[in-house]
Amino acid sequence: MSPAKKDIEAGRGPIAPPRHIAIIMDGNGRWAKSRGLPRSAGHSAGAEAFRTIANYCKAIGVKWLTVYAFSTENWKRSADEISWIMSLLEKYLLESIEKMERDGMRLVIYGDESALSPRLRSLMDRARDVAEHVEGFTANVCVNYGGRAEILRAAKRYAEDYVNHSAPELTEESFSGYMYTAGLPEPELLIRTGGEKRISNFLLWQLAYTEMYFTDTLWPDFGPAELDKAIEFFNGRQRRFGAAE
Ligand code: IPE
Ligand code: IPE
Ligand code: MG
Repeated sequence: MSPAKKDIEAGRGPIAPPRHIAIIMDGNGRWAKSRGLPRSAGHSAGAEAFRTIANYCKAIGVKWLTVYAFSTENWKRSADEISWIMSLLEKYLLESIEKMERDGMRLVIYGDESALSPRLRSLMDRARDVAEHVEGFTANVCVNYGGRAEILRAAKRYAEDYVNHSAPELTEESFSGYMYTAGLPEPELLIRTGGEKRISNFLLWQLAYTEMYFTDTLWPDFGPAELDKAIEFFNGRQRRFGAAE
C-alpha cells in the first residue's frame, strides 16, 4: 500500500510524497554476480527497475526523479561494460522520444555529453526537442555526471556571464541557477541502493539538506514496495534546516 493510502486510512489525511526524489541506482553488478550472470545482465535488469520506479513515482505524484545512471568515474570500467550501459541508454532514449508526449513523462539528461558517442548525443538532442513540448512528471537521468564537474561548470558559466556583464549578484540562489537543476526544488529524499553509504560525487551542491535513505537492496530488486518504505522513512523525519526545535 502506498504511504499516502496508509495515511488516509490512519486518519492522518494524505501526506504528499516528496516532490523531488534522487536515487543512486547501485548494485547492478552484484545482483548479476549473485546469479552467475555477466554484469551486463545486471544493468539490463537495472534499466527495467528504473522504468518501473519512474512510472510509480509519476503515479504517486512525485514531480521530479533524478537518477544516477553513469558517473564521471564510471569510465574506469571495462570497454564492454561501458558500451553495454551506453546501448541501454540509447534504447531508453529512443523509447522516450516515441512515448514522452503520450505518457506525459519528460526525460532530461544531466551531464557532460561531449564525451558521449555522436549517436547518443543526437538522440539526446532529439529527446530535448520533444521534452520541450511535454509537461508533468520529469525524470532527470545523470549520464557522465559528477557533482564536482557540475559545480565547476556552473562556475565557468557564471564567469562567462560576468565577463559579458550579464551575471546576477553571486548568491546561493543565483548560483543554483547555473546548475543542471536550475529552477527545481532540491531533492527532499536521496535513496542509495546496494549497501554503500556514500555520495560518490552525486548532486554535491543540491544535497545539502536532503534526507538520506540507504538500503542493502540491490538496484534491480528495488521496486514500488521499497520506494514506499523510503517515503515512509522520509515522512518520519523532522526537518529542522539548522533551526532549534
Ligand atoms: C550501478 O551498479 C550502475 C552503475 C554504476 C553504472 P554497479 O554496476 O555499480 O553495481 P555494483 O556496485 O558493482 O554491484
Ligand atoms: C555510483 O555508483 C554511480 C552510479 C550509480 C551511476 P558506483 O558503483 O560508481 O559508486 P562507488 O564506486 O561504489 O563509489
Ligand atoms: Mg556500484
